[in-house]
Amino acid sequence: MATNITFHPGSVTASERATLLGQKGITIWLTGLSASGKSTIATALEQHLLHLKHFAYRLDGDNIRFGLNKDLGFSEKDRNENIRRIAEVSKLFADASAIAITSFISPYAADRQFARSIHEASSIPFVEVFVDAPLSVVEQRDPKGLYKKARAGEIKEFTGISAPYEAPASPEIHIPTGDLDVTQSVELIVKYLLDKGFI
Ligand code: PPS
Repeated sequence: MATNITFHPGSVTASERATLLGQKGITIWLTGLSASGKSTIATALEQHLLHLKHFAYRLDGDNIRFGLNKDLGFSEKDRNENIRRIAEVSKLFADASAIAITSFISPYAADRQFARSIHEASSIPFVEVFVDAPLSVVEQRDPKGLYKKARAGEIKEFTGISAPYEAPASPEIHIPTGDLDVTQSVELIVKYLLDKGFI
């Protein structure tokens, strides 16, 4: 725990930065089971927003675990720390006026609430997106063969099989992936951002 530290505010406020750059920062937080489609939607959304000339940047669960969070596994404690760090990183991106798009399972409601709370404390919009695919469907897809390994006991603490997933009770956006394809999912998110005046 750091002690004897002092916060140094900049001479440009977040809202002044947004005005100067012509873009207000925001975090779009995708949550859902492994293989629910989070990364696919995040990738398409990032591409779509960049083509509209918005500074969008994606933070992806698997990718971040190759670097920043390579010291973390999948115990409850490590997942808490994984999400705590990403909450802080996405807030930094959004504070810098980016549209941060996170795609992490983020299975614990309390961790997602923490992410929301630190954004709201800084008046940064936080949009929770539930990428909703039932376990039976993602297990059928199983693109990485992880569900099969989890069922066989070769992977411990696998979300949905031997570790919990706490579905969001009231996400800003609900994407039933059985009813919407990737393009429709991106359209739904972009419409929300437009309706709210975020882009
Ligand atoms: S979490 O729960 O938010 O900390 O997980 P996240 O950082 O998003 O990482 C999820 C990806 O890690 C792979 N993987 C596992 N997922 C769940 N449980 C266990 N035990 C596990 N082990 C490895 C898996 O490929 C996840 O990728 P996605 O893109 O979600 O399918």
